Amino acid sequence: VRAYLDGAGADGITARANAAAWQALRLEGRVLAEMQDAHTGLELLGLTLPHPLVLAPVAFHGLVHPQGECATRIGAAATDSLMVVSTQAGITLERIAEAATGPLWFQLYPQPLRADTLHLVRRAEAAHYRALVVTVDAPVSGLRNAEARAGFALPPGLRPVNLDGIAPPATRTLPGRGPTFLGLMDAAPGWGDIAWLRSQTRLPLLLKGITSPADARRAIDCGVDGIVVSNHGGRTLDTLPATAEILPRVAQAVAGRVPVLCDGGIRRGTDVLKALALGAQAVLIGRPQIHALAVAGASGVAHLISILRSELEVAMALTGRRTLTEIDAGVIWRD
Ligand code: FNR
Ligand code: LAC
Repeated sequence: VRAYLDGAGADGITARANAAAWQALRLEGRVLAEMQDAHTGLELLGLTLPHPLVLAPVAFHGLVHPQGECATRIGAAATDSLMVVSTQAGITLERIAEAATGPLWFQLYPQPLRADTLHLVRRAEAAHYRALVVTVDAPVSGLRNAEARAGFALPPGLRPVNLDGIAPPATRTLPGRGPTFLGLMDAAPGWGDIAWLRSQTRLPLLLKGITSPADARRAIDCGVDGIVVSNHGGRTLDTLPATAEILPRVAQAVAGRVPVLCDGGIRRGTDVLKALALGAQAVLIGRPQIHALAVAGASGVAHLISILRSELEVAMALTGRRTLTEIDAGVIWRD
């Protein structure tokens, strides 16, 4: 389980680079700034949030806690955190939403058949999810060598229940096609599917897994409402750049037209501050959320968010930034 959760793609170069890149950025401290009425609140796609820390979609919380995503949801609500529920949750999206007292977004993996994708969308709408986060960077599973060596498999009783009844992709054999293209890529979504999805729902639509400014522009042309700069925590294509390197370029391409979120290796309030300085409106937290859940269930998740939030507040105080919108590129030390 640990190899699955903490593991990354291939040699883990991107996963390590994510954390290292935030750490390598230095801050310009500012003293004696006016800090009356300082706060960490923001507006994001129709939500009023007290802080910019979002729980990233992570599959199978049941690997580390008997109540799985339902425990995480309680920790999220206790800290007014937005939680993104994975398509690959071990509990149905309806049950997770049932007793939710805070906002939820649904992370959607497009399915081989549009009818199946649409059914997931309708279920998320009916369960009052507030946005769809379409993950586009994992049409094939990354090469997870550490996970494979450890022999990771889901324990009995845990499966992606939201996908029950959905058929695996049909395969067409052609000479010269290896198993990757054969099995998965035939059914992988394309830009046309994003435009189609946009036409099918009124929920805000975000694309998660954007690592190229050109793709960010194309996403906006398709009418998406937000971009998540992410390399999937280094779990898909190894040797992609760190998200701290990608973010400013994507933010420049987006030019404020839609909100930009970012994840990957964010472990400290200073990392959050740096991501906001480079153009993100909010950040997503992946692996630490599962560690927190493993250690102390719902309270662990709440404690994780409280720690990160107070670290962000300290970082804002010591860089003289009163609000999130005041966190500009000038926060970063320039040589
Ligand atoms: C993920 N991530 C992920 N993303 C997604 O869109 N759907 C998913 O089901 C999952 N599942 C998943 C499982 C596990 C175990 C991990 C660690 C990650 C990616 C996740 O949303 C996020 O992009 C990264 O985890 C962010 O990087 P950090 O914070 O883990 O470094
Ligand atoms: C992962 C898939 C579930 O990263 O997104 O494990």
